[in-house]
Amino acid sequence: MATFYHVRNASVLFLWVLVSAGCVWGRPATFLQDFRVSWGDSHITRIDQGRAIQLRLDKTSGCGFASNKKYMFGRVSMKIKLVPGDSAGTVTAFYLKSDTDNVRDELDFEFLGNRTGQPYTVQTNIYAHGKGDREQRVNLWFDPSADFHTYSVLWNHRHIVFYVDDFPIRVYKNNEGRGVPYPKMQAMGVYSSLWDADNWATRGGLEKIDWSKAPFFADYKDFNIEGCEVPGPANCASNPRNWWEGAAYQALNAIEARRYRWVRMNHVIYDYCTDKSRYPITPPECLAGI
Ligand SMILES: *[C@@H]1O[C@H](CO)[C@@H](O)[C@H](O)[C@H]1NC(C)=O
Repeated sequence: MATFYHVRNASVLFLWVLVSAGCVWGRPATFLQDFRVSWGDSHITRIDQGRAIQLRLDKTSGCGFASNKKYMFGRVSMKIKLVPGDSAGTVTAFYLKSDTDNVRDELDFEFLGNRTGQPYTVQTNIYAHGKGDREQRVNLWFDPSADFHTYSVLWNHRHIVFYVDDFPIRVYKNNEGRGVPYPKMQAMGVYSSLWDADNWATRGGLEKIDWSKAPFFADYKDFNIEGCEVPGPANCASNPRNWWEGAAYQALNAIEARRYRWVRMNHVIYDYCTDKSRYPITPPECLAGI
């Protein structure tokens, strides 16, 4: 009897801790519940009751989808299998964006296709308070069209981290104290799309889409969004007890830091921070050590 009472009490306590922590339920997102098609409906196929989807690009159209809700801080991830074979000129994107154009906040993953056997490039970009132009490019160390890989964005008050599987490929710190803008005032929706970008994507637009290889397919599954929903409880976003604001998420841990260094040393092919022709004066967020 006593044991039973304790067990029950413990589970009540556990629930109380979750609720009082302002915790957003970690229900796995599904396409049907959490997203809607934003364009090219006929080019999106739902698979496995909306747990997975396939995007198609052909000469008539690409397509895209968007989350139903917006979010303030948190972590968003999805598994993507990119367009295989000759994907030159195609771009598959996964991004977070506010719906305010002139003071836009945006966190971008763009996967730039390539000719068969040439490496896929991941371009990331960050808009804060309407200012973007912070592109970085990384060549992947595996073939992202052979299998699903997890792409995620962690966004908290301290920093924004882009991950490819468990490897951080980009970190943007909150350096507001040094006058660097940081996205933290606006909720962002989650978006994805597949489209024809052969005017710029592959070797600067030199490599065109080979339409004889169309249609092109990108596959998605395992959507996961944990964050403060907007509209939702007003105090959620500033709650320091949200797990993504925890000590373990305030900085890269030792393993992540080592992986990040490895990516930076071996796989970065472009960084706006070191592009002197574009930025004769180094942008403040690029200065070493900050
Ligand atoms: C495509 O492959 C070429 C040749 O290997 C490489 O220079 C380029 O960075 C790759 N990616 C893009 C997006 O052009």
